[in-house]
Amino acid sequence: MNMVDVILKKKAGKTLSTEEIRAFARGAADGSIPDYQLSALLMAICFQGMDARETTDLTMEMMHSGGVVDLSAIDGVCVDKHSTGGVGDTTTLVLVPLAAACGAKVAKLSGRGLGHTGGTLDKLESIPGCSIEKSQEAFIEQVKSIGCAVIGQTHDLCPADKALYALRDVTGTVDSIPLIASSIVSKKLASGAGAIVLDVKTGSGALMHTVEDSIALAKAMVDIGTHAGRPILALVTGMDQPLGTHVGNALEVREAIDILAGRAGGDLLTVSLELGSRMLVAAGVAKDIADGKARMRAALDSGAGLAKLREMIEAQGGDGRVCEDVDYLPHAAYRLDVPAPCAGYVARMDTTAIGYCAQGLGAGRRQKSDVIDPAVGLVMRVRLGDCVEAGQPLATLYLNRRELANDAAAKLTRAIEISEEKPELPPLIYAAVSPEGIVR
Ligand code: URA
Ligand code: CA
Repeated sequence: MNMVDVILKKKAGKTLSTEEIRAFARGAADGSIPDYQLSALLMAICFQGMDARETTDLTMEMMHSGGVVDLSAIDGVCVDKHSTGGVGDTTTLVLVPLAAACGAKVAKLSGRGLGHTGGTLDKLESIPGCSIEKSQEAFIEQVKSIGCAVIGQTHDLCPADKALYALRDVTGTVDSIPLIASSIVSKKLASGAGAIVLDVKTGSGALMHTVEDSIALAKAMVDIGTHAGRPILALVTGMDQPLGTHVGNALEVREAIDILAGRAGGDLLTVSLELGSRMLVAAGVAKDIADGKARMRAALDSGAGLAKLREMIEAQGGDGRVCEDVDYLPHAAYRLDVPAPCAGYVARMDTTAIGYCAQGLGAGRRQKSDVIDPAVGLVMRVRLGDCVEAGQPLATLYLNRRELANDAAAKLTRAIEISEEKPELPPLIYAAVSPEGIVR
């Protein structure tokens, strides 16, 4: 097949055939199509889009471009949750143990932090001894015996996506709904998920900044999953401020433990219960969302969720005592409060900038090869709509390199807008998208 013809066809706004999409995905995976042609086609797709059939074809081709995990040895439906990436968003560490304590099976392949957003694997590795590497067999055994496991990829999954995503990152072609939807869903399908619950973030810290684009992305992913025969649904949730208060790896583990121990709550818990209850429905454990929420609440109140997190940490070689005493987590050497420059209402946050502030302290990577400092990050001391006095702390920085303090404090101050007028608060849950439709 002549790739130039395929590029010209998409450039002209025409629909690509299944064979053309197959050639594109295979050529990306095996390296036989040069990067300049792949990039040109990606850019044409960005401008011209793809219809539902093309998007599904690309997803299935990327899914089958590498290994596919077989979870059939595990009884029941394995349910997975995927977030498009947020700041202070450690829902996985809250809802996976709660859902498993309720009887769902969660076999989760997670990722590392990217850009301004954190990754569950980095958070787990901040727990002393905790490993995110297991053989396929040991991974399945762990889910069979305790109901959950969260590890890194065991196979070479979706090599076509890996090649295309690397190119998109450097050619300005990330922000295309069909490309994002096929990228995410291909990986979920290849990792063996029997049912999928998606958390599509929207707002200043999200991949998609507008609610309409976020809903369109959620719908595109739900359509693909439905085509592939998997129960799938999505929530569109707010990322107009960090979801939890803690941003940074060990700090986020600490917040998850505080929530599971009943010492903390807030938006992170609310979103975890909303997503988790839907996981229980998708897994066939709960009869409806209200039943799912009641079960998740009961697992929280009884301490069963915290006990499950401890079991999971210990099954992965980690020090389970962190669940009793968070002081077993790594500590930063210095703390620094960042004061409000003036009095007023917290009107707006640039959540992406707050994520980059934590990254700058060493909580995230600028490049793939960077080493993360598990102890550092920041704790937000205000939420949108709060009224503050001048000098009152907006956040506390946790750092190991004192020389980074001034720059980080300046970045954080710039990321938070204080106004005289009381702002209107953005919603936390914007929409629910299922095969039946969109509920706002
Ligand atoms: N995350 C992915 O895995 N793929 C995308 O295209 C964007 C975000
Ligand atoms: Ca203590």
